[in-house]
Amino acid sequence: MMNDIKKIGVLTSGGDSPGMNAAIRAVVRSSIYENKEVFGICRGYRGLINGEIEQMHSHSVSNIIQRGGTILKSARSMEFMEYEGRQKAHENLIKHGIDALIVIGGDGTFTGANIFMDEFDYPIIGLPGTIDNDLYGTDFTIGYDTAINTVMEAVDKIRDTADSHERLFIIEVMGRDAGFIALRSGIATGAEKILIPESTTYIENLFRLLQQDRKKNKTSGIIIVAEGDDSGGAIEVAKKINEKFEDFETRISILGHIQRGGSPTAMDRFRASIMGYAAVQAILEGQRGIMVGIVDKDIAYTPFEKSIKHHQSINPVLLEISRILS
Ligand code: F6P
Repeated sequence: MMNDIKKIGVLTSGGDSPGMNAAIRAVVRSSIYENKEVFGICRGYRGLINGEIEQMHSHSVSNIIQRGGTILKSARSMEFMEYEGRQKAHENLIKHGIDALIVIGGDGTFTGANIFMDEFDYPIIGLPGTIDNDLYGTDFTIGYDTAINTVMEAVDKIRDTADSHERLFIIEVMGRDAGFIALRSGIATGAEKILIPESTTYIENLFRLLQQDRKKNKTSGIIIVAEGDDSGGAIEVAKKINEKFEDFETRISILGHIQRGGSPTAMDRFRASIMGYAAVQAILEGQRGIMVGIVDKDIAYTPFEKSIKHHQSINPVLLEISRILS
């Protein structure tokens, strides 16, 4: 069922992620292919409230597929959390005659979209743009693959110096509420221990494992800790290890926002392109209130509420495997 949508808006919101540009490009070019006008909204919901809206053309998205960040800029808007802010945003959409919106972001973006949709009976489709991979309804979010590759490259480098100096490195990666970055990058780098928010960190267990490793003649090691882990992060973990083992030489490395930038991997560009196309198709089919994802290689549609509330769950077996292999 095709509907009478003529103008589509697109924005990026929340923490940026590599591949957002590929998604914007796919949305713009798919919309134009379908003879729809497409409008870029700058600075996420904040820009929507302030009326930062411009028509985009095919050439507006030339030469961006390989670039990290987002050409539309991103922001976290406090004003959009208030009804008055959302009302202004709605007025701007009406003023420009924009009939539907595609929002690229994470759980905060979809939470806002869901409220807005209900309040103003307005069609919105979401694309999962976050390095955290913490949304239900897609195997991989846009940006996750690039982020774990960035972490892998950094940890490989740290491993060299850890080995030379026989040191134990505690490396903190992003993930306020989710351990997906830590888990996969930890397995990919052979980390001796991975600490994530989804499983309780018992410091005594960590001590025991470190002692076992010493007995195996390991003289260096890598602990990957997600920033949201209940241990308190890399600084806290290092402090506790130093208190317990005087002979361990530890160093801390907090990778930080390096994980959010850089040219997207082929998989992130591919997924962003396919999902961006599918988002436009979904809008034209009259769908709304859903996030577009890819599950088992197929396009999947998941209601916002479900994508936000049911975070992907971590498979505990992966933690066990990482330990066996390290
Ligand atoms: O949501 C993505 C994310 O990168 C988290 O992993 C991290 O905790 C947060 O954003 C950092 O946000 P900001 O850039 O606002 O400091």
